[in-house]
Amino acid sequence: MAINADASTSRPQRRRATFWDALDERLGLSALSYPVPAHANTISYLLGGITLFGFIVLFVTGVLLAQFYNPNPASAHDSVVYLITRAPFGDFIRSLHFWTANLVVVTALLHLTRVFATGSYKRPREINWLIGLGLLALTLAFVFTGTVLKWDQEGVEALAHNREMGELLGLWGMWFTSEFTRSVPILTRLYIGHVTLLPAALTFLVIAHLYLIKQLGISPRAAEQATSGPPASGPGVSRFSVHLRKMTGYGLLLLALAGTLALFWPAALGQAGVAGAEVTKPPWMFLPFYPLEDVFGIQGLLLSSIALFVLLALVPFVDRSPWLSPRQRRWIILAGAILLLALIVLAGYAWLSRPVPHLME
Ligand code: HEM
Repeated sequence: MAINADASTSRPQRRRATFWDALDERLGLSALSYPVPAHANTISYLLGGITLFGFIVLFVTGVLLAQFYNPNPASAHDSVVYLITRAPFGDFIRSLHFWTANLVVVTALLHLTRVFATGSYKRPREINWLIGLGLLALTLAFVFTGTVLKWDQEGVEALAHNREMGELLGLWGMWFTSEFTRSVPILTRLYIGHVTLLPAALTFLVIAHLYLIKQLGISPRAAEQATSGPPASGPGVSRFSVHLRKMTGYGLLLLALAGTLALFWPAALGQAGVAGAEVTKPPWMFLPFYPLEDVFGIQGLLLSSIALFVLLALVPFVDRSPWLSPRQRRWIILAGAILLLALIVLAGYAWLSRPVPHLME
């Protein structure tokens, strides 16, 4: 929004206004001040933006880490040790990357829960729900490949799971096995996935996600919903520029939290991994699948994760009523709550149990 520089304003204010006007004239920034509903600027509707801010932190810290990391299996673990012990601020940057990744998974899951609870996946936002699921899958793929890269025992075991799942998928899973090519080690290919393929796919889906939010507007609150018809966008009494400012503010808080965690609890690194041994458990976001792997083996892991995503993908297509209020959507809310409880119980069980060998190798 342009600021008027009249006689009642001070000189620094006038200078700021002139600077802003000059910038606005060239970049058209005031176009970002379009109306949005007031509820779009509450914390629960900012979780997607906070997640996006987290991804920017991950990108910057990731580029710094890449200057010291060597994706060759013979040197990978040593290069992480070098990064922690010798590279300037290496330990802190690595820990900041680690903690931000964990927090981004938390904010993405909270964002999904908000979208689910407010029925924001309903017509006309079904495709954006599916794009969101794609973003969640990519986020988990980032965590998975990142775990392998450190090449300690946890990383070597994660890679062994990756290979066995690839073999189970046959031709479809060929890329995930060592047989795909003999010229580049699978660790190097997963690194390439972590730093090029996944960021490219993420950027593409984020652009599609944001485009649809701009086109469709943010979903209304149940209380504002008309008595019938598909959920439309609420009235715009706030501004998108306020949304951006709040998103940056909460994003900086996320950064401060990750920075504090990084200072007091640096990211762990185990001994160089030994192939064939199975003594670790997966990172917390994969824990719900661990007991299923205990019972059904690697197939259990693969099928349960596919089943979870299929169930989530079906949500907008089975809950087709126009109602947003949880009271008018009792059965889907109940189904969501049961699923969440089951995932928490499975994760709790896995957390308390001892590591069990699952792999065939
Ligand atoms: C993981 C990365 C993700 C990012 C960076 C992201 C980003 C965003 C942003 C910035 C918004 C605007 C409103 C808000 O912040 O609440 C939004 C809305 C939305 N997101 Fe996401 N999102 C992600 C994941 C997901 C997931 C996992 C889902 C669900 C499966 C999802 C579904 C949606 C839908 C349906 C909307 C429209 C909500 C409405 O109109 O109220 N997103 N997302």
